[in-house]
Amino acid sequence: MKTSLITIAYIAASALFILSLGGLSKQETARRGNWYGIIGMLIALGATVAAMKDGNYALLAGALIPGLIVGGILASRVQMTAMPQLVAALHSFVGMAAVLVGFATYLGPQEKMTTAEQNIHLVEIFIGVCIGAVTFTGSVIAFLKLQGTMSGKPLMIPGRHLINLIMLFVTIGLGVAFFVSPDAATGQWPLLIATIITGILGAHFVMAIGGADMPVVVSMLNSYSGWAASAAGFMLSNDLLIITGALVGSSGAILSYIMCRGMNRSFVSVMLGGFGTEGGTTATSASGEPQGEVRSVDAPTAASMLQQSKKVIIVPGYGLAVAQAQHSLAEVVKILTEAGTEVKFAIHPVAGRLPGHMNVLLAEANIPYDIVFEMDEINNEFNGTDVSWVIGANDIVNPSALDDPASPIAGMPVLHVWEARDTIVMKRSMASGYAGVDNPLFYKENTLMLFGDAKKVVDEILTAMRA
Ligand code: TAP
Repeated sequence: MKTSLITIAYIAASALFILSLGGLSKQETARRGNWYGIIGMLIALGATVAAMKDGNYALLAGALIPGLIVGGILASRVQMTAMPQLVAALHSFVGMAAVLVGFATYLGPQEKMTTAEQNIHLVEIFIGVCIGAVTFTGSVIAFLKLQGTMSGKPLMIPGRHLINLIMLFVTIGLGVAFFVSPDAATGQWPLLIATIITGILGAHFVMAIGGADMPVVVSMLNSYSGWAASAAGFMLSNDLLIITGALVGSSGAILSYIMCRGMNRSFVSVMLGGFGTEGGTTATSASGEPQGEVRSVDAPTAASMLQQSKKVIIVPGYGLAVAQAQHSLAEVVKILTEAGTEVKFAIHPVAGRLPGHMNVLLAEANIPYDIVFEMDEINNEFNGTDVSWVIGANDIVNPSALDDPASPIAGMPVLHVWEARDTIVMKRSMASGYAGVDNPLFYKENTLMLFGDAKKVVDEILTAMRA
């Protein structure tokens, strides 16, 4: 009876996780998706506790309660812009958990199994521990790079692909040694050495990736952490963990693919870890000289330009998030819309610093979903727009991605803001964005720069409009 109830709970939790992923894919349903996930996780936790055979509940509470408190405090305090670091740190825990589960399963008391079952079990342990070790060290390095504790510059050891390949083959050899070991006392050594080598492999793999490509790495580590959890599920014979891990693994892989497309990186080269060599550099224009004349406007002039427009497309970027200007911006949008101006938002897939960053910001300010459009839906609308208003964005509106094959971001799809009659670019200075590339948009004839902190300037525009 108890077993069937637990199975039902596992199936319900799995279904809720699937519904959660489905919900999170659209802004309108994201809140509901989150709730499905929370309920699914509560059911999963309850069922796991109920399934404990000779449960040491005090030990469980000792691990669970501090974990819940620390997680709750961290999540409520984290700045949106520091989210990638938090996610990387959490992935490292999943990797570490898979390694520990692997060792505990191998070295702990063994259940009675047939030879075939035993063989499969050994393969599960070895693969689970190796994926876990790669995920753990890779995520720690990703965390340190994103936090700025470690330089974002790629570490380019000569022959690094060969080194990675050798480590991979040595690991396979150790896998064979582990598999044929007569007992755990012998088998623990190849397992331990393989853990160290795959740990080095994970760290080396992420160290070789430049700062500008880190988002793809984080989502790939997300995928790896899913596979590590899935492997732990196999080791523990826990169906829910297998399903959940597979969901995280595959959704992380799909997200990596979408982001690769958004940043014009090849998925295969990402999977091989051999990419992003030019990322994170601080290249400016070849000569370092300004590329032309820059025209600037003040907030009241920008306000009247916006008010006289029939159609305005707003392009939010990282600077909007840093300045927390979304609420004032929502007020400006309201005033413009009420006065009959058509206002739309254009969202680049890698705007900001994490997937969906801009959507979350705009939702926070209650900006209606139906005026928010993805890049592909809106990119041909700039032509025919009076003003494109770029707020704290840079790389995602850089025309050199399209017309300068030598640019480090060449080939990355960008928003064609310059096709509007006028473009207002709001940022604090002429500094480059995340990719460290100079932006010819600022020197175009129909571009007007509006310098200042996004929140301060949007407030000034708001005051001018109200006046
Ligand atoms: P960026 O290219 O980084 O440009 C943001 C601009 O905002 C900067 O040039 C900065 O110029 C300005 N800014 C900063 N603080 C500001 C403030 N308080 N007020 C006004 N402006 C401010 O951002 P983007 O256009 O959103 O492009 C995203 C970049 O990040 C891409 O290169 C992408 O590959 C990368 N990335 C994306 C992700 C994901 S998943 N979205 C994750 C990591 C990295 P000033 O200093 O002159 O103000």
